[in-house]
Amino acid sequence: MPLALFVVLQLLGASPIDDFMRPIGPSGDPHVIAHRGFSGVAPENTLAAFRRAIAVGADMFELDVLLSKDGHVVVIHDETVDRTTDGTGKVSDLTLDELTALDAGSWFAPEFEDERIPTLAHALRLAKDQILVNIEIKTEAVTDELRGGIVEKTLEVVNALTMKDSVVISSFDPRALAQMRALDSDIRTATLYSERMHGTAGPGEAMKAVGSNGFNSSHSQVEASMVEECHRLGRPIAVYTVNEEADMHRVIELGVDAIFTDRPDRLIELLSK
Ligand code: G3P
Ligand code: MG
Repeated sequence: MPLALFVVLQLLGASPIDDFMRPIGPSGDPHVIAHRGFSGVAPENTLAAFRRAIAVGADMFELDVLLSKDGHVVVIHDETVDRTTDGTGKVSDLTLDELTALDAGSWFAPEFEDERIPTLAHALRLAKDQILVNIEIKTEAVTDELRGGIVEKTLEVVNALTMKDSVVISSFDPRALAQMRALDSDIRTATLYSERMHGTAGPGEAMKAVGSNGFNSSHSQVEASMVEECHRLGRPIAVYTVNEEADMHRVIELGVDAIFTDRPDRLIELLSK
């Protein structure tokens, strides 16, 4: 951004939105985020879903992380393996070897029987230099401890692969975001808004409380005032999980910067018209 424009925006009380999540192109199209990978056509949170997100041309994919019993950061949404694998039990009660022995694809379709629960490192290696990644730290794995838990381990994986500039860390749990900021002063983070966690706090207050850079809201809760407040602060606002065309049109009209969807193909097609 030219210095003069930056100074004018500062004088107007606005800041430029981080390039990472700035609307793309002259039309200002929102970023397309493949939710749990391209989970409309492949089992969520598997390498198959992430490969398809890259192939379809999404700007970013989102994944969810929890900790295995032996302390590995693994990619899975639910607290238990029951819904998305052929096993049973809590992720935190199973070792990495036990988790990766499970079939994480057949529940979706028989052709995916070889899919496994990936580690965060697996998923990031696949994404490197190809696509941005939103790493959502699930509340179930967050503790009050700054050291040794899922937040620090996630940061270690990101740094080991030198991918800090390609990821954004999000969580519904303010502790995870505050801990991430305490461990790293400039990694990008985004507050995942829920009425239950944040009550009546607006985007500015919710982001400031944990030093986060962006604000993610459910599409059913997003309001024009939230978009305005984020943009006044120079912060991106993303909405999840938008799968129907009518909802896509509605949130595009609101001016959001990024959209999580299980159907990135549908959103890309719609944006191209
Ligand atoms: O990060 C956006 C979205 O993934 C949050 O909800 O339950 O799909 O992880 P959930
Ligand atoms: Mg998620």
